[in-house]
Amino acid sequence: IVEHPRITVIGVGYLGATHAVCMAALGYDVLGVDVDESKIEQLRAGRVPMYEPGLEAKLGEALASGRLTFTTDMDEAAAFGDVHFVCVGTPQAADSQAANLSYVEDAFSALAARIDRKALLVGKSTVPIGTAERLTALVSEISPLGAELELAWNPEFLREGFAVEDTLHPDRLVFGVTSEWADRQLSAAFAPILAQGTPVVRTDLSTAELVKVAANSFLATKISFINAMAEVCEATGADVDLLAKALSYDTRIGGRFLKPGLGFGGGCLPKDIRAFAYRAEELGVGQAVAFLHEVDEINNRRRVRMVDVIRDLAGGNLAGKTVAALGAAFKPNSDDVRDAPALDVARMLYLEGAEVRVYDPQANKNAHRRYPDLNYSGSMADAVTDADVVALLTEWDEFVDADPSMLGDLVRTRRIVDGRGALDRGAYLQAGWEFRALGRPAHTADRAAVTSRR
Ligand code: UDX
Repeated sequence: IVEHPRITVIGVGYLGATHAVCMAALGYDVLGVDVDESKIEQLRAGRVPMYEPGLEAKLGEALASGRLTFTTDMDEAAAFGDVHFVCVGTPQAADSQAANLSYVEDAFSALAARIDRKALLVGKSTVPIGTAERLTALVSEISPLGAELELAWNPEFLREGFAVEDTLHPDRLVFGVTSEWADRQLSAAFAPILAQGTPVVRTDLSTAELVKVAANSFLATKISFINAMAEVCEATGADVDLLAKALSYDTRIGGRFLKPGLGFGGGCLPKDIRAFAYRAEELGVGQAVAFLHEVDEINNRRRVRMVDVIRDLAGGNLAGKTVAALGAAFKPNSDDVRDAPALDVARMLYLEGAEVRVYDPQANKNAHRRYPDLNYSGSMADAVTDADVVALLTEWDEFVDADPSMLGDLVRTRRIVDGRGALDRGAYLQAGWEFRALGRPAHTADRAAVTSRR
């Protein structure tokens, strides 16, 4: 094995850019590769094409150290790397819930056609179970005589907003490997992380693929579970925030991913559970994960419910009403609007005839690209000025920390719906707002007002 391997990272989107930067930070020589010229230009210039706290600073350090370079040239990549990490996207296919694997296949074929020495090809992309095995066959078919290419799978669990931290200090590493050599070569590529005492689970290729989608399915299920309880709360007068709090003290349940609200979005959870359900169907075990359809539906129902509550508060009809949509990103500290509940709600309000003013501290640009018909405001104050209803859709600190009296002076009528269970209800009620929240009936809000005034 090569003790201090040279690393290539194929595909420098969210995952790949983070991985390349972090590997360079760990002391490896790294070559980042992408077909997108403009992305490579930006990274060379030290700019990260998305909002990710801490990543740009780390990119700057890595470039300055000389350990990180970028190219669009696949020949160069093939010649450079001892270990090649494939980090390209697997978006939802245009015509079904399956994953589109063409980028992954292209990356592995391109490497296989060019590498003429022993090297390890490591898949990091999230793929349907069985893909790695299929790619192994593909690679050995294409690979020129004499090349000794081996394939491994090493899923990635990083969260947006914590990408650097999660990559440098992961909870665990999963090595899907088929030989002792691959295991040792991959271990050499993660030596500094292994030295931290990070647990490693060594598996076959299919298990490694499955770990990723199973983890995301579990997380999505946990969120939809508490949101299902929110539906029950809405019908009974119970309070889902208090319910979640009481559940969270049970250490077997735990409080993380138990936050009720508008539900999950982003580039991973929604797409991964759909692709998993689809793949399970193909494998003849669709029934085993049929509950994932329900998880998806519960999640989508939250968005509809949010619109219902806003409409109700607006007097039963949204036509001509001005609604301030606070947030567009799928979660705070991100500019990602893929499958974002916030933006979906804004779009539904617009379709019902409301004048929607969207403001997000980072995601306005991406949101505008996706839905150019909505109005976008340059500040929170602009968005809420003369609003009939304010809707909190993404729990950015800027929104959570805002002063209810000051906001109250700007709006037309003091009505707010908290879609993320993030606002201080007592403070809003005291400032004279009509306050609604998902999973909590209006009358408990009044009771809390009484308590907080005492
Ligand atoms: C997720 C996984 O956490 C990560 O391990 C995987 O690699 C990629 O997918 P990410 O998409 O960055 O990461 O977002 P995450 O922080 O997990 O949040 C997902 C969504 O769930 C967000 O829309 C968030 O608002 C929502 N969420 C999360 C809740 O609604 N309630 C919760 O309790 C937690």
